[in-house]
Amino acid sequence: MAQRMDGKAVSAHTRQRIKEQTEFFIKETGVTPALAVILVGEDPASQVYVRNKHNGCLEVGFTSYEYRFPANIEESTLLAKIDELNADPAVHGILVQLPLPSHIREEAVIHRIDPRKDVDAFHPENVGHLMTGHAIFKPCTPAGVMELLSYYKVDPCGKHCVIVGRSNIVGKPMMHLMLEANATVTICHSRTVDLAAVTRSADILIVAIGKSRFIRADMIKPGAVVIDVGINRLPDGKLTGDVAFEEAEQVASLITPVPGGVGPMTIAMLLQNTLRAAQASVKRMKK
Ligand code: GUN
Repeated sequence: MAQRMDGKAVSAHTRQRIKEQTEFFIKETGVTPALAVILVGEDPASQVYVRNKHNGCLEVGFTSYEYRFPANIEESTLLAKIDELNADPAVHGILVQLPLPSHIREEAVIHRIDPRKDVDAFHPENVGHLMTGHAIFKPCTPAGVMELLSYYKVDPCGKHCVIVGRSNIVGKPMMHLMLEANATVTICHSRTVDLAAVTRSADILIVAIGKSRFIRADMIKPGAVVIDVGINRLPDGKLTGDVAFEEAEQVASLITPVPGGVGPMTIAMLLQNTLRAAQASVKRMKK
């Protein structure tokens, strides 16, 4: 029976550390780290995520600014808001909650954010730094996975890490962080032939595809570490991951539950990036 990786507890631990660093930073500099979050439309899941981010900020002593726009907002209005936040020295991090309504070009929005305030690390400049191993900001969900593995003393060095899913938010950046940690990495996706044969060769299996209970016990190598990034809401309102948890925990050595696994880590990493952005901004001002 696998040990559960308690993302809630590890996240609380990380946020406590960030809170202490923030207190010290404010005392030293008189500057309070501030995150601006933009939410467009009424997507219920996005509303929950934005509320959690807001509460996370307040908990560690940051200022949190929230801007809500109707789903029919013009792209130019949104870009103008980003310009305003880019120019505001009191704002250190800017996050535009995704997905955006289809008439708004996600790419244009992400490109508009000042890379120094891009705490999601989605701007191509930050994606480039991640590829070369010089990232200032690491994308929050993959960074949260690495933090969780480190807490449970899983060293990816030399292990075969199989990532299922190739999104820009999780799969691709996860690959870079795993390479940096000296894992051998395979990425699988919807066109992979004999997916089960590949996932069964994983020492560390990371799943981010958004398909409820897709990974079954017979797709997991006995003793593997299984990280479930999926959050799927079933018709009855219950949340499930991309892994069939009850059967997978019979096979794995360590496994993340959903909810309470990777999700809470994402917010902790966002707060860490925001503190870094504030620290870097003060450094620039001293020059
Ligand atoms: N939507 C789902 N995950 C994320 C994330 O990490 N950042 C943003 N901005 N939107 C998201």
